[in-house]
Amino acid sequence: MKTRKRVLSGMQPTGQLHLGHYLGVLKNYVLLQKEYDCFFMIANWHSMTVFYNNYKQAHSYIAPMVSDWIAAGIDPDKATIFLQSEIIQHAELNLLLSMYTPVSWLLRNPTYKEKQDNIEKEIDSFGFLGYPVLQAADILLYDGEIVPIGEDQLPHLELSREIARRYNFINNLNETDGLTIPQAKLSAHPKVLGTDGRKMSKSYGNTIGLSESKEVIEKKLKEMKTDSGRVRRNDPGNPDNCPLFSFYDYFYPELKSEIDSECRKAGIGCVDCKGKIINKVLIETEPFRFTLEKFRSNSDELNQIIEAGTEKARKIAIETINKLKSNIGLTGKLSIK
Ligand code: TRP
Ligand code: SF4
Repeated sequence: MKTRKRVLSGMQPTGQLHLGHYLGVLKNYVLLQKEYDCFFMIANWHSMTVFYNNYKQAHSYIAPMVSDWIAAGIDPDKATIFLQSEIIQHAELNLLLSMYTPVSWLLRNPTYKEKQDNIEKEIDSFGFLGYPVLQAADILLYDGEIVPIGEDQLPHLELSREIARRYNFINNLNETDGLTIPQAKLSAHPKVLGTDGRKMSKSYGNTIGLSESKEVIEKKLKEMKTDSGRVRRNDPGNPDNCPLFSFYDYFYPELKSEIDSECRKAGIGCVDCKGKIINKVLIETEPFRFTLEKFRSNSDELNQIIEAGTEKARKIAIETINKLKSNIGLTGKLSIK
């Protein structure tokens, strides 16, 4: 029996998680698990759309990614962490939904062209075109009512909703017998800036990894861009033009206005101003280093967490797929009429 509303979200293992993931996604996951029955999925099939010729690399990102989830505060006793590819019902529902998804919908999915253009690799597979169908299956398999996503994922969620509606309509089903129409929950995704002042992103090489060593984090922050108009210590600065200053929002909101005015009258120098943020970031990232080391020396617990979550998710997935198949007549004894 469902008691709390269900949340389903997924993250692809495509590299080391950084401050952008933490502030934009993980903190939000941690809040959601208090209120909802949360399912957080390792979207490894999705990562294969890009890592099709070097999947082992994507696979190697899974354990550190889940380590970061746990370090961020996702509690495996509250939320269910599971591995997509270990639940074959994702593949099965993907196939079922693909029968109800017009190719034209997939071709006009804005992220389809966008990603093809932005990635140096050739990604023109059937699987990549069907990426949103698999994502719909992920959600619909668990009657995911609420899907926390960033704005970039909105077109995918809209497709999930359209696919579910069309499935229900064609099969003459309502949301109880058929598919639950999911709802997006847009998180206030702050646009976290990287060390060069552009959006923090792996492809720009401007990230601060959550479990990077203290030394590396310190070095990266020391080299982070500040107001380029402020050359000498005595020059007044402008925090509005300073990427480092944006970190005060996340790490030191209580000091923000004071720093703002001190900077403008050259009351504080950039070295000191950065020093405060460096200290805060080092403290806040400590659990990520600690947890990674813990799981590095013994990964049993990590594996158990994922296995237990996967088992729990699989039970629901089997129930849903059986219900769907039975409601469209895809099961039952054969007979000759
Ligand atoms: N496409 C999502 C991303 O890249 C990952 C994802 C896969 C997902 N399945 C999902 C997100 C289901 C929400 C719900 O971020
Ligand atoms: Fe940026 Fe701080 Fe230097 Fe002002 S004092 S320019 S806010 S780093």
